[in-house]
Amino acid sequence: MPATLPADKRLKILDAAIRKQQNRPDALIAVLHKAQELFGFLDTPVLWHVARALRLPPSRVYGTATFYHLFSLKPRGEHSCVVCMGTACFVKGAQKLVDAVGDLGGITAGQTTPDGKVSLLVARCLGACGIAPAVVLDGTTVGTITPDQLTARVKEWTHGS
Ligand code: FES
Repeated sequence: MPATLPADKRLKILDAAIRKQQNRPDALIAVLHKAQELFGFLDTPVLWHVARALRLPPSRVYGTATFYHLFSLKPRGEHSCVVCMGTACFVKGAQKLVDAVGDLGGITAGQTTPDGKVSLLVARCLGACGIAPAVVLDGTTVGTITPDQLTARVKEWTHGS
């Protein structure tokens, strides 16, 4: 059984939103939206809380939260580095990019550095195959990037720029 949530103001607001939806299971997406707005991301205690409140199996709630890209199950860092792992980028060495940023920050794909500065994420084809390997740095697509160039960019973030 996952840990329960701290009984703070955010939880009261979430519970009020759930009551407003009359605890209807079909309000799941709306409730997850509200939860993410309040907590920033949807970790296991939040998901279990929602499941209990809506009388849904946790597997269903977890499945919905992971299906929609707009929901995040982990805290997001101040900066994000999304490495494309689609075929064209993979062939051009995308894994080396993931490894380089991962080594630099001591994280693996899907994680955020402990200081909250950088989230390292992977995606399928970003639609920029012509400039593979492609990454998206804080929303800006950058192509034909090498591991050294990428780590230099990420270092700028981690050194308080
Ligand atoms: S495979 Fe990376 S942009 Fe298409």
